[in-house]
Amino acid sequence: MNNLTFAIIKPDAVKSGNTGLILDRIIKSDFKILGAKLIRLSRKQAEGFYDIHKERPFFEELTEFMCSGQCMVLALKKENAVQEWRQTIGSTNPEEAETGTIRKDFAKNIQNNAVHGSDSDENAKKEIAFFFTNSELIANN
Ligand code: CMP
Repeated sequence: MNNLTFAIIKPDAVKSGNTGLILDRIIKSDFKILGAKLIRLSRKQAEGFYDIHKERPFFEELTEFMCSGQCMVLALKKENAVQEWRQTIGSTNPEEAETGTIRKDFAKNIQNNAVHGSDSDENAKKEIAFFFTNSELIANN
């Protein structure tokens, strides 16, 4: 399926009161929200989710940040969703993000970068399954 992606509105953006503004960008960019949950990640969940980065020097700080407050996890649907969402959010580092992207407008720095987006269809599927059961998503189809 290449019409699904996974997103997180990260703790920095939730704490700054930008959840609603980011949801508005999601809706105005024509993504359909198949699932959304406001949650607080445990350290174990954050480490599991970012397992692919476990050898990176920023891993510990990243997982600590991701558990530092509430975040919103989202399953999004749109044609070519992974690429479309990556375009909507902009580069990982907000200093390199294009004007009008979510990270340009809301991210604080390369780590506290407001939102997450899957980098491939395969990872989108895995990341959605990490937080949502099938029935939670089917109910919204
Ligand atoms: P995300 O899209 O969630 O994927 C991995 C995350 O690691 C990334 O956003 C950032 O939050 C973080 N990250 C990536 N590169 C760095 C870096 N050089 N220093 C600190 N954090 C980083």
